[in-house]
Amino acid sequence: MNLDGATCLVTGANRGIGRAIAVELAKRPVRLLAGVRSLDSWAELDVAGQRVRDVRAVRLDLSSRAAIDACFAQLGRELDQVDVLVNNAGAMTGGLLEEQAMEEIEAMVQVNLLAAIQLTQRVLPGMLARGRGTIVNNASISGYAYFPSASTYAASKAGVVAFTESLQRELRGTGVRTLQLVTPGVESDMLDATTALYSRHLDTSGWETLPAAEWARRAVEAIEQDRRVLGPGGRSALAKLASRGPAQLLDAIAARSFSRTPRR
Ligand SMILES: NC(=O)c1ccc[n+]([C@@H]2O[C@H](COP(=O)([O-])OP(=O)(O)OC[C@H]3O[C@@H](n4cnc5c(N)ncnc54)[C@H](OP(=O)(O)O)[C@@H]3O)[C@@H](O)[C@H]2O)c1
Repeated sequence: MNLDGATCLVTGANRGIGRAIAVELAKRPVRLLAGVRSLDSWAELDVAGQRVRDVRAVRLDLSSRAAIDACFAQLGRELDQVDVLVNNAGAMTGGLLEEQAMEEIEAMVQVNLLAAIQLTQRVLPGMLARGRGTIVNNASISGYAYFPSASTYAASKAGVVAFTESLQRELRGTGVRTLQLVTPGVESDMLDATTALYSRHLDTSGWETLPAAEWARRAVEAIEQDRRVLGPGGRSALAKLASRGPAQLLDAIAARSFSRTPRR
């Protein structure tokens, strides 16, 4: 997509990958709507010398259908103008299933999967009417390679993968596209929390990671290039490949790196 003049809405834009994507988009002549759970968490972007036309933080609390509907009501017709929706906001919980708190699992599925579906459904009619739009969904390598300790997070991200792939086929010929980000380990608060939580039972020492700015640069280029999938590269690319073949390879890696007894 040519981003000149495009209205781009990014969720979870106040920190982590979402903020890095907002910073990268601001290098283009876009109208940027930075979706944040709370406006208090938003620190203005430094856009001096950047090409961005307009940046505005908008409240998008994705914690429940009712909260999202209330935010939609505040945004009104502005949502009809969105050309690029980046469903980025997300949460993570993990560890042995029997030790995970059900409230955290529910909140995670809500933001990772249901909120992305609800937002997409809201902006899609405007995109279809204009015959132009890109829905970017931040999936994860966990949406493909289902490792122990990640059962519920992987389930939420596999849902994002299925949603995106199915929608992509449904939208064929409409001018509206989807882009699936198969995000690998990216330096952020979530990665720190994930490493701390998973490493109780899983050897995370071999995880490869990227700076958020680098992943955001690739993501925005993928939007411009009308790509369907942005793959992770490195060892995560091999895990993605292995995930769609027989399960034995991932079984073997998991058997080597996981222990039900805490590792430390
Ligand atoms: N980092 C990685 O290694 C990695 C790997 C694969 C996929 N991902 C995916 O990439 C996305 C961004 O992750 P990140 O690493 O940047 O995480 P992060 O640093 O923890 O940031 C998460 C973002 O999501 C927002 N968010 C969470 N729950 C929300 C809710 N109920 N309503 C509105 N916003 C909410 C947070 O807002 P608050 O500041 O208000 O909490 C924050 O902006 C997620 O979908 C994640 O699953 C990350």
